[in-house]
Amino acid sequence: MNFPRLHPDTIEEVKEKIDIYEVVSDYVVLKKRGQNYVGLCPFHQEKTPSFTVNQSKQLYYCFGCGEGGNGIKFLMEIGQQSFTQVILELAKRYQVTLKTLEPEKRQEIQKELSLREQLYEIVALTSNFYEHALQETLGKNALNYLIQKRQFKPETIQQFNLGYAPSGWETLYRYLVEQKRYPIALVEQAGLIKPRKKGNGYYDTFRDRLMIPIKDIQGRVIAFGGRSLTDEEPKYLNSPDTPLFNKGKILFALDQAKNSIRSLDKVIVVEGYFDAIALHEVGITNTVASLGTAFSESQLKQLLRYTESKQVIFNFDADNAGIKATERAITEIESLIYSGQVNLKILNIPDGKDADEFIKSHIDGFNKYQKLIGNAPLWLNWKIQRLLINKDFKKADDFEQVAQGMVKLINKLLDSNQRSYYISYCADILAQGDARILPLYLKNLQTQLNKPLAKSSQKEKTKTFIKPENIAENNLLKEAETILLKIYIHYPEYRQAIFDKLEEKELYFSLLEHRIIWSYLLEIEQDILDTDDEDNNQLRSLLEAKMDHSSQAINKINELLNFREIEQYEDSNRLILIIDAALISLEKVNLEKYCRYCEQKYKTINSQEDSMTYQYYLNEYFSSRQKILQLQPLRSFSQLDIYGNE
Ligand code: UTP
Ligand code: MN
Repeated sequence: MNFPRLHPDTIEEVKEKIDIYEVVSDYVVLKKRGQNYVGLCPFHQEKTPSFTVNQSKQLYYCFGCGEGGNGIKFLMEIGQQSFTQVILELAKRYQVTLKTLEPEKRQEIQKELSLREQLYEIVALTSNFYEHALQETLGKNALNYLIQKRQFKPETIQQFNLGYAPSGWETLYRYLVEQKRYPIALVEQAGLIKPRKKGNGYYDTFRDRLMIPIKDIQGRVIAFGGRSLTDEEPKYLNSPDTPLFNKGKILFALDQAKNSIRSLDKVIVVEGYFDAIALHEVGITNTVASLGTAFSESQLKQLLRYTESKQVIFNFDADNAGIKATERAITEIESLIYSGQVNLKILNIPDGKDADEFIKSHIDGFNKYQKLIGNAPLWLNWKIQRLLINKDFKKADDFEQVAQGMVKLINKLLDSNQRSYYISYCADILAQGDARILPLYLKNLQTQLNKPLAKSSQKEKTKTFIKPENIAENNLLKEAETILLKIYIHYPEYRQAIFDKLEEKELYFSLLEHRIIWSYLLEIEQDILDTDDEDNNQLRSLLEAKMDHSSQAINKINELLNFREIEQYEDSNRLILIIDAALISLEKVNLEKYCRYCEQKYKTINSQEDSMTYQYYLNEYFSSRQKILQLQPLRSFSQLDIYGNE
């Protein structure tokens, strides 16, 4: 077949969007184990899984046969397809617009590649030049500023390769063009010099500024930010966009932060270069800065690759501009937020300080800052707090505005648990501790929402208010619920036990698709479940017909019915252990959610005015905490080696 030649932009975009877990899951049943996913290797025959997928590194590797690589290689190997075929398929899957190349364009691309190499070289040399200048007499003023005024340590200055751009008009120009003989056009393309407006010649872009190199993820310098040392505007001058540098895509300090984002499993995003540097200096190294432009979805996606539980904290300035920037960033990444793909918290430091000022004004900055991070509200709580600012509930107008604002926010939530939680949360705020009018507000809010909450099936027992999901917790739930459903379907002899235990402990499936499948499983005639039909075709078509035929539901049904680990479970002792562990996981997560809910309640209730309710939630809180503690000695589901590896 004759394939079009793909434009490198298309390939890049596909590489940016592909997710190894998604890609591999189409072929291999993956289980979470520690940081990785494991499954049976599709490239060789095996009974115990040695095929691992690491999502944060976007790589797979089989300890059994040594196959390994990225998602594209996986698809090439598994489908015996060419690189171009794979890219074309992925482009379709991830909705990447195809750009192709005419033959003559290919030469241009080749040129562009070598252009990039030369630009890297020029920028790296420039960075060295600035770094040296900072240590010389002409850089004394700048060095003093860093050490005395900004209180940075020499090690930090070195670590971030901070430098100084001398004050002459042509210092860098002479060095690069006259001394090092680089073509003027290239130095200009690197954004380091500009043509004079009048007459011929060029002048340096950065003059008498403190220079902060901006690096790509591999740590190569690609651009600069230059801070004015005087009152000269702008305060920060940044390199223009160049073939190496795209402001909206780069995150400052990501090269230095990525490992710690991975190990701490969360990332802090600040606004300024110096905020990031100051936090790194005191050891809060999972920090990046957004370079003063609007935080973009592409930046978020880069970050999400490094944090498994998708925890992102925005710490923008607490002044008006910072609040605006936060609002704008939230809007920018709205689709990912509302669908629960990112667990976003917002930190505004009290007294309007930025992170750098906060760190510098406390002796124990590290701990103090960690504490702020720990208390940062979820983005939606933050938005609700914003609604309440300067509002007086005694004024009908203000009250109405707040209530409408709340409805607007809740309307966008897709998850029904989150919805019900926030309905009660908002009703609580509106009722201001008056327990008698609370139900009225609850009802009011509910009727004003567009989409009805997902109906719960009759058989399940719903606890109405559940805290917004925490992603790690949800993964555990998903895993535990899936395993229960699988065993229920594939091992008739355990069906009664699973059913009884769920009833006895008043447990229910909490993920929507699981709930639906569970209720259908209970309805379906037992003899259909019991057929010897290996592929479960009858059950499959029944379930598919009952579900909405959405691809998500179909995938789930396939996952449940193609039970590949089946041989692994022959040992019945192990199966019982697995069922118990899964049930404990369900119980634990549910109790924890409930606990947080009660805590939230008793903390916001006025104990004087409504002592009964207060006491009720307090008791509930303590008794459920107690129950969680009693669960502890049992092994948790996630730690249980379900594969029976010796
Ligand atoms: P801020 O004005 O909040 O500065 O800009 P800051 O980081 O607190 O700076 P210091 O502490 O006074 O040195 C935040 C970020 O916005 C971008 C820069 O990336 C800066 O770090 N910015 C700001 C610009 O690009 N240009 C400007 O003129 C100002
Ligand atoms: Mn600052």
